[in-house]
Amino acid sequence: MEDPFVCYNDGAEIPSEDEATENIRVLVRVRPAPDGSSSLAVDTDEGGIHLRRGKQNFHVKFDGVLDSRATQSDVYRHVHPAVEAALSGVNSTVLAYGQTGAGKTHTLFGGLLPGDAPAASASAEAGSVPDDTMSGMTTRALRDIFDGAARRGARRLAVSASFLEIYNEHLTDLLQPSMYGRMPLAIKEDNDTGDIFVRGLTEVPVHSAEGAMRLVRRALRQRTVRSTDMNARSSRSHGVLQLLLEQSSADAAAPVLRARLSLVDLAGSERVSGERALSLDKQHR
Ligand SMILES: Nc1ncnc2c1ncn2[C@@H]1O[C@H](COP(=O)(O)OP(=O)(O)OP(=O)(O)O)[C@@H](O)[C@H]1O
Ligand SMILES: [Mg+2]
Repeated sequence: MEDPFVCYNDGAEIPSEDEATENIRVLVRVRPAPDGSSSLAVDTDEGGIHLRRGKQNFHVKFDGVLDSRATQSDVYRHVHPAVEAALSGVNSTVLAYGQTGAGKTHTLFGGLLPGDAPAASASAEAGSVPDDTMSGMTTRALRDIFDGAARRGARRLAVSASFLEIYNEHLTDLLQPSMYGRMPLAIKEDNDTGDIFVRGLTEVPVHSAEGAMRLVRRALRQRTVRSTDMNARSSRSHGVLQLLLEQSSADAAAPVLRARLSLVDLAGSERVSGERALSLDKQHR
């Protein structure tokens, strides 16, 4: 089972380890087979993946491949340049794409999902070793964003967050406290700038990684999930978490660095034949 990740940077030079300058990078994460076995043999090598099923044999190349032993921290090493780009004022997007159960939500939001143990926090008891293995890309990105104060020098950082769900072509604001208070949302284009935006979407200022994580946890509880044959908590929607990062300095003449980091958990890419994949449970929320 593969879980491709796409990191997209708007025209930025990505400060990756190998000094690559591509603006789009596609990574594949192979998740462990749930029962430890699979009819599909998967081998990875430097940037490539070999798939074998019976006599069929495929080899596909990507910008990077992480095998089933890869940890959340290993994956973040590839995602980190997108976070750095946003901190240097360039819009960046991380898209998780793959079939149901492939591990998209786990990779992006691990540690923040309903039922997950709380992620390691700054307030963990002194001397205790917090378990950070589950922490997904969001938790790690938030820590990098808020922990970078020394690097930013005198620049002031303001962060706000929005979390949009797109389900059956309906847009829902996951940061609205109650579904009764939610206004219908629509995608609009700014006539002057050409920018695309969602009218009425809540943007909440966040002041710390911990505060942002609490907000994301709350939002994830509102998300539409169903049970499928392959995933007991399948997100049937696209989830778009956006962090707006604005850095200003005391010198009013200095430019304000402003960029969005978008973390996008796409709905499972599988084709649902009839109701088969959704047959276990009709629960909606
Ligand atoms: N690399 C991994 N290691 C261990 N468990 C994993 C891994 N990836 C996914 N899982 C587990 O597999 C299950 C399905 O993962 P997840 O919900 O992230 O899939 P998904 O790609 O978001 O699927 P859907 O499209 O149905 O929402 C979860 O219980 C998750 O914790
Ligand atoms: Mg999911």
